[in-house]
Amino acid sequence: MAKAKQDLPRVRLEVDDKALELATIPATQGNHGVVVTPLMSQTGLVALDPGFLNTAACTSEITFIDGDQGILRYRGYPIEQLATQSSFLEVALLLMKGELPNAHDLEAFETRIDKHMYLSDDFRQIFSVMPRRAHPMATLGAAINMMAGFYPESLDPLDPAAVNLATVLMLAKMPTVISYIYRRAQGNALLYPRPGQNYVENFARMTFQLPGEKFEVPDVFYRALDTLLILHADHEQNCSTSSVRMIGSAQANLYMSVSGGVSALSGPLHGGANEAVLNMLSYIRDNEISPKDFMTQVKDKRSGVKLMGFGHRVYKSYDPRAAIVKEQADAVLDALGVKDELLDIAHEVEQVALSDDYFIERRLYPNVDFYTGIIYRAMGFPASMFTPLFALGRLPGWIAQWREMIVDPSGKIGRPRQIYVGEPHRDYVPVEKRP
Ligand code: SDX
Repeated sequence: MAKAKQDLPRVRLEVDDKALELATIPATQGNHGVVVTPLMSQTGLVALDPGFLNTAACTSEITFIDGDQGILRYRGYPIEQLATQSSFLEVALLLMKGELPNAHDLEAFETRIDKHMYLSDDFRQIFSVMPRRAHPMATLGAAINMMAGFYPESLDPLDPAAVNLATVLMLAKMPTVISYIYRRAQGNALLYPRPGQNYVENFARMTFQLPGEKFEVPDVFYRALDTLLILHADHEQNCSTSSVRMIGSAQANLYMSVSGGVSALSGPLHGGANEAVLNMLSYIRDNEISPKDFMTQVKDKRSGVKLMGFGHRVYKSYDPRAAIVKEQADAVLDALGVKDELLDIAHEVEQVALSDDYFIERRLYPNVDFYTGIIYRAMGFPASMFTPLFALGRLPGWIAQWREMIVDPSGKIGRPRQIYVGEPHRDYVPVEKRP
């Protein structure tokens, strides 16, 4: 339960002989906040916190993470329960509306999404002009930006009806866009969504069905994909979500804000890590390096080698999502009849790392990206498609966080300060007088 306000610490800041009493703000769970708004006007000082390790950018009611306990909850519901009992579209509604939908509302939402999965032939042209070898995240960001051009009636960030329409259009068309990116890279024809087919099944069929063939996979394929999307759906103020909020704070429309989130997610330190993990495991296998020897490279800072899929800014314990994916990996690969030695290598690498002081001292554990690529690969996705799959999962979280931000009455355009450490004033020197 929330701590009563009187239980909050009193915060006084002494600057020389001046004492500044700072207000505090209670959290219902996790860290309470100290409000530093008067800092600059009262002291002339600004706070510096590279990477925002100690700085909250907002209050939020959407997702709670306890990094020490390995807890992740969407609107209060534990990720372990949602991953096994919910569906991706139900979780999307939960994140945006704050409550689990009743059967009627869920069905109405699913039907609305189903109606909008289609992309016009004009839109489909985009995929034919993008280079085949473009990284899928580059094409994905471009396609989302183009939605702003194709659906002008859904742009106004201050019009709830427009925001609701953009929400539905993006959630509905993202699977179609991602399937087209893959098929374009494969040189295959783009398929159409099949009205009435389940969201994840439609996506998988549009992605993998070959001309003249039926696309049939065991149900475990669809269940695993739906679960992976749920696991990625939101994660409070991570790099890409903070980028979406920052862009939206300028009253940029939802498409342009989400496109910024795609850009941030593409980085190998963030969503790009799932692809980097597969490349790392393949490197270990192809060069016949023992996990122990690889760890020596990782621990030698000069190598610049990181153990991709390990470590986290918030989780200083096992990422609960990684635990769920790890648990599912064996079962999914068995059910798909896939044997992947990279899974064995991943297990070995984890075992070596978790018994090594370097990782123990730094509280480095597997994060969501460590095992997900193994399952995506078993499903038939190439490593370059792993981060677009992360983006598909994260889309409802980006949208929910942006919607929370855009209606926040205390909201202001994001504009951090800096501490200038450059040259003091100096006069211009004409080029002929320079050394
Ligand atoms: C995601 O924020 C989110 O919620 C993100 C995410 C989400 O759902 O949105 O969970 C998704 O991005 C997961 C993270 C995926 N990235 C990776 O797997 C890349 C590898 N991980 C690291 O780059 C790193 O752990 C980060 C970027 C994830 C976190 O970096 P921090 O919090 O800035 O920590 P740090 O770099 O300051 O590391 C602290 C120490 C350092 O050593 P010292 O200087 O103290 O000696 O730990 C070391 C680091 O060198 N370290 C690692 C390491 N991660 C941290 N050493 C080797 N391998 C690693 N992976």
